Amino acid sequence: MPVIAIDGPTASGKGTIATRLAAELGWHVLDSGALYRLTALACLRRGIGAADVAAAAAAARGLDVRFGARIYLEGEDVTDAIRDEAVGDLASRVAALQPVRDALLARQRAFREPAGLVADGRDMGTVVFPDADLKVFLVASARARAERRYKQLIEKGFSANLDTLLRDLEARDARDAQRASAPLVAAPDALKLDSSDLTIDQTVAQVLAWWRARSA
Ligand code: CDP
Ligand code: CDP
Repeated sequence: MPVIAIDGPTASGKGTIATRLAAELGWHVLDSGALYRLTALACLRRGIGAADVAAAAAAARGLDVRFGARIYLEGEDVTDAIRDEAVGDLASRVAALQPVRDALLARQRAFREPAGLVADGRDMGTVVFPDADLKVFLVASARARAERRYKQLIEKGFSANLDTLLRDLEARDARDAQRASAPLVAAPDALKLDSSDLTIDQTVAQVLAWWRARSA
């Protein structure tokens, strides 16, 4: 079953592009970041911190989740709850734990089903689907990404500060890139795409053109 892997830093547009590509191709989509966020939420609810590696890994292994138009944890709709800043922060900490990553591996691979899968994350092309048919490393300047997050927050009615967002984003980038387990790096065979000055439509069109050239 074909896989298109879309990896890259936060707010580079992975989720948006992956969802659009999957719709165009009639494929499944894996939001692997959501699995780390779900693990973090399960940990928060059980009072488990990132220092308790065994308990965090057990929470990841035992995740009772359902994906569809909405995301459910233990039967409860947590689609919005997992986007919370506190959840995102713990997600990036538990994601640095190798036993947690190991616990989520088979679950991620199970998303590979007919007719195909577009997988978005940090290590889709390097660890989870090293045999992916097309690997895209999607980047954008820190400023462009901070501005995107800023716009997202303002549109949702939240207050936001661009400088704070930029600082937080650079800290998250550093943590993702410097961790020992599955650091954020492009696979050697990934095609790099800088979306700083591209619209969503232009970005989707480029990946589709690469895919069509490859599968022709
Ligand atoms: O929205 P944001 O880009 O911050 O994060 P996300 O894609 O929802 O993922 C949440 C966290 O999980 C990230 O900060 C990453 O540290 C981690 N993650 C990972 O380690 N590996 C993945 N394949 C996906 C996410
Ligand atoms: O999944 P990831 O964190 O990489 O990013 P995202 O949540 O898909 O995109 C972050 C925001 O940037 C969304 O509001 C997108 O609509 C926006 N975006 C954009 O304005 N231009 C692009 N070329 C890609 C994304």
